[in-house]
Amino acid sequence: MTDTQNAILRVGENEYPCPLLTGTENETAFDIRKLRAESGLISFDDGFGNTGSCESAITYIDGDAGILRYRGYPIEQLAEKSSFLESSYLVLYGELPTADQLERFRRRVQENAAIHTAMEHHFDGFPSHSNPMAVLSAMLNSLGCYYPEMASNRREEDLERFDEAAAMLLSKVRTIAAMTYRMKMGKPFTFPRRDLNYCQNFLHMMFSDPYHEYEDTAGLAEALDLFFLLHADHEQNCSTTTVRMVGSGHANLFASVSAGVCALWGPLHGGANQAVIEMLEEIHDSGDDGSRFIEDAKNGKARLMGFGHRVYKNYDPRARILGKAAERVLAAIGDANDPLLAIARNLEKSALEDEYFIERKLYPNVDFYSGLILTAAGIPVEFFTTMFAIGRMPGWMAHWKENASDPKARIHRPRQIYQGANQRDYLPIDQR
Ligand code: ACO
Repeated sequence: MTDTQNAILRVGENEYPCPLLTGTENETAFDIRKLRAESGLISFDDGFGNTGSCESAITYIDGDAGILRYRGYPIEQLAEKSSFLESSYLVLYGELPTADQLERFRRRVQENAAIHTAMEHHFDGFPSHSNPMAVLSAMLNSLGCYYPEMASNRREEDLERFDEAAAMLLSKVRTIAAMTYRMKMGKPFTFPRRDLNYCQNFLHMMFSDPYHEYEDTAGLAEALDLFFLLHADHEQNCSTTTVRMVGSGHANLFASVSAGVCALWGPLHGGANQAVIEMLEEIHDSGDDGSRFIEDAKNGKARLMGFGHRVYKNYDPRARILGKAAERVLAAIGDANDPLLAIARNLEKSALEDEYFIERKLYPNVDFYSGLILTAAGIPVEFFTTMFAIGRMPGWMAHWKENASDPKARIHRPRQIYQGANQRDYLPIDQR
């Protein structure tokens, strides 16, 4: 990063130089860190749409060009050639692993699949209608209680144990998700197997019964692997920024990713994949071809879920990959003519030709096609956002580590413009 020159902010007679900060892809920011001290002014950026909150070396996005890279590698290349575990290693440690490094990482993840038996009883405390995201957040935070040496809230100690904690969280997040499903279904927990890979094991823990071993005849584990890989990181989105925010106060990794799960939960963020499939089902059930939904979106009555993105003002590259993958997976399970896929393609075509969407640069995002893949894999809609959380785990942890390792990192603490009542005197209750 280089400071080349200054941007000058002029307020009345006064000028305030703000150093320019240029990133490795030439994105330039002006640094206002000293502005308040020098001028009394703060910047205002509701929703942080134009605010760089950190410097990061993990993920690069060019939203106008539709580019996404993890550690410099284009998402298209990783989607074609890598795996979720290999890309997780890349996101976490900055480089593609050697064969030895990958094997050690894989083994560490595999050995950490089961959870402490005492934790099984935590599931008894949740009613069966609990939302899986609430359960996941609570369980990830509780997990830290079992490993206090990795969750000390003492930055150096937590960083020293990061590799162990990261492999554990990456592995157990999937076990907890599967156990939540079993708990909700009133079925016994299925223990992980050592001979299965990450996604095969997940499907096994979800769907194998004591009397019937789950068989993946349609390559669904591979489709899930791609789904997870495409969600592995996405720079400063709502949940990742939350993880960094919580971690900036030196909260441990477990607590920080647990907060990330809560941030991801909402329908404008990770909850959108669930909202998309519900929208497609509603369109299908009502016999509409999608035109009514497009009209409602244009009239401001509803948002076309799975469309639009704060950063992408072009086709989300992940949506392009997932659209093709959805077609492959549906064909593999013998559902090539799935009516929901046809409605999705129809909606996409209509929206891309519509002036409202063109003007606002609203394109399909990662959530638009992902639900079709998850449905094909037998994942209940209620678990879609949990699936996103499993995929996003490497990104959250990499950002926590990046922040924790930065000796200059400060606690995140934005300012505000106060627009409330001016000072007034307290009135006793009988005079109000
Ligand atoms: N359908 C219809 N209109 C939309 C949509 C949509 N999906 N998204 C944005 N718009 C319109 C807005 O109404 C606004 O129109 P206006 O200028 O006439 O007022 C304009 O486009 C800009 O929208 P903003 O809300 O300012 O865009 P913002 O960057 O704040 O929001 C967001 C981005 C939240 C993703 C939004 O596009 C949205 O709600 N999409 C649907 C939900 C969704 O798919 N979320 C998943 C995002 S990806 C992820 O988190 C993994």
